[in-house]
Amino acid sequence: MELPFAESFKIKMVEPIRKSSRQEREKWIKSAGYNLFGLSSDKVFIDLLTDSGTGAMSDRQWSEMMLGDESYAGASSYYKMKNAIQELLGFEHFLPTHQGRAAENVLFSVLIKEGDVIPGNSHFDTTKGHIEFRKATAVDCTIDEAFDTTLSHPFKGNVDLLKLEEVLISKGDKIPFIIVTVTCNSSGGQPVSIENLKMVRQLADKYGKLVVFDSARFAENAYFIKLREKGYQDKSIREIVREMFACADVMTMSAKKDAIVNMGGFIAMRSKELHCKASVFNIMFEGYITYGGMSGRDMNALAQGLYEGIEFDYLETRIKQVEYLGGHLMEYGIPIQQPIGGHAVFVDAKRFLPHLAKEEFQAQTLAVELYLEAGVRGVEIGALMADRDPVTRENRYPSLELMRLAIPRRVYSNNHMDVVAVALKNIFDRRDTIRKGLKIVTEAPIMRHFTVVLDLV
Ligand code: F0G
Repeated sequence: MELPFAESFKIKMVEPIRKSSRQEREKWIKSAGYNLFGLSSDKVFIDLLTDSGTGAMSDRQWSEMMLGDESYAGASSYYKMKNAIQELLGFEHFLPTHQGRAAENVLFSVLIKEGDVIPGNSHFDTTKGHIEFRKATAVDCTIDEAFDTTLSHPFKGNVDLLKLEEVLISKGDKIPFIIVTVTCNSSGGQPVSIENLKMVRQLADKYGKLVVFDSARFAENAYFIKLREKGYQDKSIREIVREMFACADVMTMSAKKDAIVNMGGFIAMRSKELHCKASVFNIMFEGYITYGGMSGRDMNALAQGLYEGIEFDYLETRIKQVEYLGGHLMEYGIPIQQPIGGHAVFVDAKRFLPHLAKEEFQAQTLAVELYLEAGVRGVEIGALMADRDPVTRENRYPSLELMRLAIPRRVYSNNHMDVVAVALKNIFDRRDTIRKGLKIVTEAPIMRHFTVVLDLV
């Protein structure tokens, strides 16, 4: 008999989590304004809000914490990080930042000016936020297949090269760079193929543009390339990662994902000149260029995490757990983005609750239902997150209205995944009884989903 699959780690430290009653949860979610971000974590049983900064560090990462060098300038921890980035990702220069959006803030301060246009594949919300904050525009050039959750395509994160070239031709002088997010979070944790990355590089070269990778989940992207792209089965994740980054001039990194740390990020680049320019903003916003908002111990854990994050066995364990959850949901007939993403399962709320109007925020309604059902916290990736149009101030309704169940790295067991799956099945079975959604009471002018206050319609 073939041995079943099992995790590539064992557990040394545990953290209790608490169950609650439906009655308690009804009270708590109401006082949180039906916004899951407003709940304190002790009111959550299984927390799938995000896979960002929520992973469990390894014994080796914790050991590295003890070796952190907290010198203000020139700490050995900085050099550890520099070596890991150079060796694994191939970039000569880098700047540490406290997280991914800080890397965006610093880099975009150098590269983006008012009126610019930044094409890419479904920009992440902070990326878009930092673009729009500078009165520039993000143009989504993701392939159309990504927006049909019933279609199975191996690389739904791919850039549509025709759409990209059209923008390069029509807005050429306004484009400082192209940004490619690997994997593409907003389209469902979907990977970008090496072939596509190479074609983007070619187009960028043809029009003389920089290519920036938003690299939060670059290792998961490499794993999918190994599994799905012809000619890559026998290559190591490390080799694939190098080949991916060979197509980029610059990368921003939220290390809270694939470097498996609780806090940290960086910008890496080939150009010394860009490093020099970005250093000024790094010092202003983040800290001196050899720590950039991170403590020495965090830089050590990050460097170690980069090595662990690209180990095949680790990635297989991780992604198989996401598939495990997604597989159960599919068995129950629950509509999800297919194929299943790298870091999360994305439930298609439009197909789950088709009888609710889009103005009633279907994905948020579903996320609230899931919390009420079992104390599971997911997150809305839909109309609330899409915000209002900065010019017209009208609500934007994206083609995908999703509830994301993001799975923290090395944290939950498959028993937890079973609870999530059954909870959603219960809701799916009684979906017709959910007659009303939510309405906005108060909202912030930008990135409103974090703090929006809602009420039942
Ligand atoms: N880019 C991508 C693709 C992301 O998914 C995130 C964060 C960021 C940039 C920003 O990084 O949080 O370190 O400032 N995504 C988290 C999420 C928050 O839940 O998907 P950050």
